Amino acid sequence: MKRSLLVILACPVCGGDLTCALLEVDPRHDAEIEETMLACKLCAREYPVVGGVPRLRPPNPVLRATAKTREAFGWEWLRYPGSLSGDKDIFLEETMLPPRELAGKLVLDAGCGMGRYSAVALSLGAEVVAVDMSESLERVAALARDQPKLHPVEADLLHPPFKKRVFDVAYSQGVLHHTADTRAAFAAVAALVKPRGLFSVWLYGKAGRYCDFASNPLKPGRGWIARHRRAAWVLVLLRHAVSDLVRAFTTRIPIPVVYALCHPLTWLGVVPGLRWFTYSVDPRYQVRLIENFDWISPPYQWHHTKEELLRWCAAEGFSVVRVLPHGLVPKPGVLGRKNSP
Ligand SMILES: C[S@@+](CC[C@H](N)C(=O)[O-])C[C@H]1O[C@@H](n2cnc3c(N)ncnc32)[C@H](O)[C@@H]1O
Ligand SMILES: [Zn+2]
Repeated sequence: MKRSLLVILACPVCGGDLTCALLEVDPRHDAEIEETMLACKLCAREYPVVGGVPRLRPPNPVLRATAKTREAFGWEWLRYPGSLSGDKDIFLEETMLPPRELAGKLVLDAGCGMGRYSAVALSLGAEVVAVDMSESLERVAALARDQPKLHPVEADLLHPPFKKRVFDVAYSQGVLHHTADTRAAFAAVAALVKPRGLFSVWLYGKAGRYCDFASNPLKPGRGWIARHRRAAWVLVLLRHAVSDLVRAFTTRIPIPVVYALCHPLTWLGVVPGLRWFTYSVDPRYQVRLIENFDWISPPYQWHHTKEELLRWCAAEGFSVVRVLPHGLVPKPGVLGRKNSP
């Protein structure tokens, strides 16, 4: 942890300022802070810094589904290959953030996993606070040792340990629907963005009502979906029903067993015709394996429509700058700018 991070941190329980034990005894300490205690000035709760990462999840016990979701993602991201060549293009496409909005800005990666998109934002000149609740942060912490502008923080996005309105930009890619309450997580992260700051978020989608499905923005070249909207809608409903059935089983069994079951699913991912029945068709085996696991393992996986997301943006004081176009399966995503106070 760098000492500069302290000014934006706050107690995740009461919002109070934090003091750092090491800096109390050595106010000139300027190197990476590996181990110390942070304490809340208001409620006196204490939070450790371990392995260079401030561990700022609220100390209360969590629900079983939250604990298992956390465990699943730790398992997943510790086995993911690492940064890949297409990460930057995917990041820019999915966040819809113009690169100039990142250079020199303080940016929150809300649910960073192993940090593949934090690495992209850093490469575009941002200072990145990378938040996750899982063990995947070990990988981000390893990156941060050589990166003065990368700050891993272990936290629960439902109780973010930051002062309000401190980030120029926040993005959250495929994360908030994995919390216990997507709407509450959206509000909690939205509150951290400065007035006139940007917030980009995408969520897992659902078919929703036909009238909403029919107005979904499609990527170029998806004419056949537009021509067969009703059939596409039914297909998405069916896909979802099958996925719910599979997940009713896979979210209840031990994580190593789910991972083992993902191997046959991953082999199917290259079989013509059958590959579309799996949850990843990526050409790389390990990526397909992880993407299948990502779909079937975490207990929390909510699905939303763009209408919900647009309502949330308005309620939290954001004007929509762009809406994410997608393919057959809806993927509600927006880039919003926070209104002036
Ligand atoms: C599907 S992964 C996406 C990771 C990253 N955005 C990416 O695309 O590489 C979802 C991440 O959200 C994190 N997550 C889920 N619920 C969270 C919560 N309540 N607080 C913090 N992180 C959470 C998980 O640990 C996981 O790393
Ligand atoms: Zn406190």
